[in-house]
Amino acid sequence: MMGQHRRKANGAVRIGLLGCGTIGGGVARHLLMQRHVLSRHVGCPLQLVRVAEIDLARARREGVPEELLTTDARAVVRDPEIDIVVELIGGTGVARQLVMEAMRHGKHIVTANKALLAKSGLRLHAVAQRHGVDLFYEASVGGGIPIIKSLREGFVANKIHSVYGIVNGTCNYILTRMAADRLEFDVALKEAMAQGYAEADPSLDIEGHDARHKIGILASIAFGQWIPQEAIHVEGIMRVTALDIQCAHELGYVIKFLAIAKAEEGGLHARVHPTLLPAHTMLANVNGVYNAIEVNGTPIGTTLFYGRGAGRDATTSAVIADIVDVARNVRLASHERLPTFTFTTRPRPLKPMSEVWSKYYLRCTTVDRPGVIAAISRELGSRNIGLTSVLLHETARGAYSTILFMTHRAREADVQAALRAINRLPVVKAKTVLLRVEPSEE
Ligand code: HSE
Repeated sequence: MMGQHRRKANGAVRIGLLGCGTIGGGVARHLLMQRHVLSRHVGCPLQLVRVAEIDLARARREGVPEELLTTDARAVVRDPEIDIVVELIGGTGVARQLVMEAMRHGKHIVTANKALLAKSGLRLHAVAQRHGVDLFYEASVGGGIPIIKSLREGFVANKIHSVYGIVNGTCNYILTRMAADRLEFDVALKEAMAQGYAEADPSLDIEGHDARHKIGILASIAFGQWIPQEAIHVEGIMRVTALDIQCAHELGYVIKFLAIAKAEEGGLHARVHPTLLPAHTMLANVNGVYNAIEVNGTPIGTTLFYGRGAGRDATTSAVIADIVDVARNVRLASHERLPTFTFTTRPRPLKPMSEVWSKYYLRCTTVDRPGVIAAISRELGSRNIGLTSVLLHETARGAYSTILFMTHRAREADVQAALRAINRLPVVKAKTVLLRVEPSEE
């Protein structure tokens, strides 16, 4: 069945909401309380007609009228009266089935489900295209920051070179607290969880899976070709220590958890890892649970988006914006007015991490003996890895030395090979810490 662009008897656009939890509750409240304003924005009545939620008491607490409530989500996605299904259940199981079924029944989709998009985006877009329906997901990345709309519409004149930034509020909160108040990782994590931004399973945050989902979505839109999750290199923040935060500070840098996607000669790459940023840059000064995303393109140059990347209010803002967009398309029977996704006809190759070029920070723990720096530099130099600075911490007699090396731009595979060789040197007494440095262009 193709998209249901016929107008209802009263000309209304009708919404079915799946999930009335933290975000769903915020969206339901906003739709109910602001329906007149929103209807004016759309140009016809915008009506919330069904709310599917297993916990009906929770939905009632959000002020959802009794006659809208149901526990049967499947009935909502099949309801011929509904134009737009808003999926706020989350997860990739039931949510995926319901979204697929809704599209097959001609419903347009608005969702905040980053995991669903990241894992099944290609398939979802194909089904949306086949059934002539919209698939919008602004709230999946950057909370209330309109980054997806900007990439899709605002930057349509541009060739995008890179999209990168802080897309996980929980990790940014942890790193901020570790740096500012010298908190241990575990203490900062507990605090971050109390902020209410962390995933139900916070390992999704600290191991980088959440950021990987988000950069996969952003990169796919920015570069016009789908970036599979398996192609994205991920390192979490669990191994970032107070010592490295301190060492970075001494060198004039801040450690941030960055999600990075770049289009370079030889192909595209995307990665997620803790990163040293010069302390004076704007991204380095994004603190707490805030998100910030930098987009570089031609002819636009550099732009920076900053705001709350999660939470009920910010996410509600993004979901409502999508609903209004889709509702306008329904009213005008013109969902193709804005293509939801442009698949490029000539996909660029995806670079493996080993072929990525970056600048690096290495922290070596060695015996305090003449010739140690020379031995380590030899391993780097023989692999064409040049140094921009070396810092030796003052060492008490008999104690191990901490030596920091900052490199020029080098190839990841070469740096990893050098790291293995350095760790084998008899003078090196602990595993060398490697962190990447941005901006990595010279
Ligand atoms: N756990 C995520 C974060 C929530 O901390 O950013 C927003 O996607």
